[in-house]
Amino acid sequence: MSTPQDDGSKNSMGISTYLTVPILVGLLLYVINKKFGKTIKNWLFASFWNRAMKEYHATMRDMKKSHFDSMLQHKSTDADLRKRSVLRVLEIGAGPGANFEFFPKNSKLMVVEPNAFFEPMFYENQHKYPDIKMEKFIVSSAEDMKEVEDNSIDIVVSTLVLCSVTSVERTLSEVQRVLAPGGKFYYWEHVHDKPGTWLHLVQNLLSPLWSFLFDGCNLNRSIDQTVLGCKGFSQVEQKRFNVPLKNGLWGFIRVHVMGQATK
Ligand SMILES: C[S@@+](CC[C@H](N)C(=O)[O-])C[C@H]1O[C@@H](n2cnc3c(N)ncnc32)[C@H](O)[C@@H]1O
Ligand SMILES: *[C@@H]1O[C@H](CO)[C@@H](O)[C@H](O)[C@H]1NC(C)=O
Repeated sequence: MSTPQDDGSKNSMGISTYLTVPILVGLLLYVINKKFGKTIKNWLFASFWNRAMKEYHATMRDMKKSHFDSMLQHKSTDADLRKRSVLRVLEIGAGPGANFEFFPKNSKLMVVEPNAFFEPMFYENQHKYPDIKMEKFIVSSAEDMKEVEDNSIDIVVSTLVLCSVTSVERTLSEVQRVLAPGGKFYYWEHVHDKPGTWLHLVQNLLSPLWSFLFDGCNLNRSIDQTVLGCKGFSQVEQKRFNVPLKNGLWGFIRVHVMGQATK
C-alpha cells in the first residue's frame, strides 16, 4: 500500500522529468540563437537573395542604367584621378553586387556591407568586370564606416539598402562625411506609399512580419522625405515612381524613389 506522501513524490518526479527535456532543449535553442542566430540568418539571406532578385534586376536594368548615366559626366575632385578619368565609388549594402554594369570604366570601387556571406558572391561577380578596380570590401554597417576617410569618395551608391539600415539619418550623415565636396549620393530605394492609399496602410500593417522575413527591411519608410530634410546636401534631385512589377510580393515594394544628392 502506498501512502499519499509516496504518490506525491512520484508525481513530482514524473513532472520534473517531463519538464527537464523541453527546458534543456529550449535552453539549447536559446543559446544557439543568441550565439549564431545572426550568422544563420545572414547565411540564409545571402543564399536566397541572388535568385529572389533575378526578375527585379532584369526588369529594372534599363531604368537603373539611365539613373546612373550622369555618373559618366562626373569628375573626381582629386586632380590626379581627374586627369586619368578615374572615379572613387563607394557602394553601401552591395550584397552580391548588382550594380557593376552601371559604374564607369576605371572606377575604383569600395564596398561597405555588414553581411560577410555576400563577400565571396560579390567577388565572383566582380571578375566579370575587369575595368572596375576593386579597392576594398569592408564588412561593416553604413552607419559606421570608420575605415572610409572623410572627403575621400566621389560617388556613393545605394540600391535597396536604406530600408534595412538601423538609422537612415546616421547613414546619410556618414555618406556626407565620406563624400568629397561636390560628390554625389545616388540612391534607388523602395518607399512608403502616399498617406490615404490602401498600400500605405497595408505597408504599415505588414511591416513587422516583412522585416522579420527579409533581413530587417522596412516596408514603410519615407526615405525620400528623410533625404530632403537632411541638412548638408547642397542639392537634391529625386523622383518617385512605380516599378513595373506588380505580381506577388513585388506589389508591396512597388513605390520607389531614385535620386542624386550633392554634397
Ligand atoms: C535588399 S539588399 C540589396 C542588395 C543590393 N544593393 C541590390 O540592389 O540588390 C539590402 C542589403 O543591405 C545590406 N545592409 C543591411 N543593413 C545594412 C547597414 N546597416 N549598412 C549597410 N548595408 C546594410 C544587406 O546586408 C543587404 O546586402
Ligand atoms: C511602420 O509600421 C510600424 C508597424 O506597424 C509602425 O510601428 C511604424 O510607426 C510605421 N512607421 C512609419 C514611418 O509609418
